[in-house]
Amino acid sequence: MKLFIDTANIAHIKECQSLGILDGVTTNPSLMAKEGIKGSKNILNHYVEICRLVDGDISAEVIATDYEGMIREGGELASLHRNIVVKVPMLKEGIRAIKTLSGKGIKTNCTLVFSASQALLAAKAGATYVSPFLGRLDDVSTDGLELIAQIRKIFNNYKFATKILSASLRHPMHVVKCAEIGSDVATAPYAVLMALFNHPLTDTGIERFLSDFKKSQG
Ligand code: E4P
Repeated sequence: MKLFIDTANIAHIKECQSLGILDGVTTNPSLMAKEGIKGSKNILNHYVEICRLVDGDISAEVIATDYEGMIREGGELASLHRNIVVKVPMLKEGIRAIKTLSGKGIKTNCTLVFSASQALLAAKAGATYVSPFLGRLDDVSTDGLELIAQIRKIFNNYKFATKILSASLRHPMHVVKCAEIGSDVATAPYAVLMALFNHPLTDTGIERFLSDFKKSQG
């Protein structure tokens, strides 16, 4: 399973990249705003900076919600760098836009997916990725992981090439369960990626090895 970081924070992207665990990056308008990036020129430059740091798929989201606007913005974003994946919201017009962009050879990520029927439509339109938001489903008392499993089964049944990019992950077990289910990608915030490293027995084990080594040195 590929691991993406869900952030627009350059320091966090650099750190994960240096650890050798990063396959790509997902961003969204909220994450860009969190970093204080304002104005379309700065936003586009920020995407280019991320693309230069990570040689993997980088999702950049359109703001338009009408077909023409999504096609125009999608083309602009895709022309920034070969690694850009155009993130398009799950709307009727969005599915139409995904079909057109895919036909032009532009990679797409259908975002804000909350049901198997939405994922099926995105796959039929030729989306490169579909992003089910499992944490936001959990937040409203619906099992997000069950949706990932459902989509996996449907995509396997019909050999859809669309990849499942599990999104809105809140903790390490979401990552582990996504891997068990067979999600193609999991995108997680920096804190969740860092938490994957931790285990108290590793910490106490290292402490004990070091203190025993010191004793052996007299
Ligand atoms: C993914 O592409 C989304 O940007 C993201 O995972 C949403 O996560 P959130 O529900 O924590 O905002």
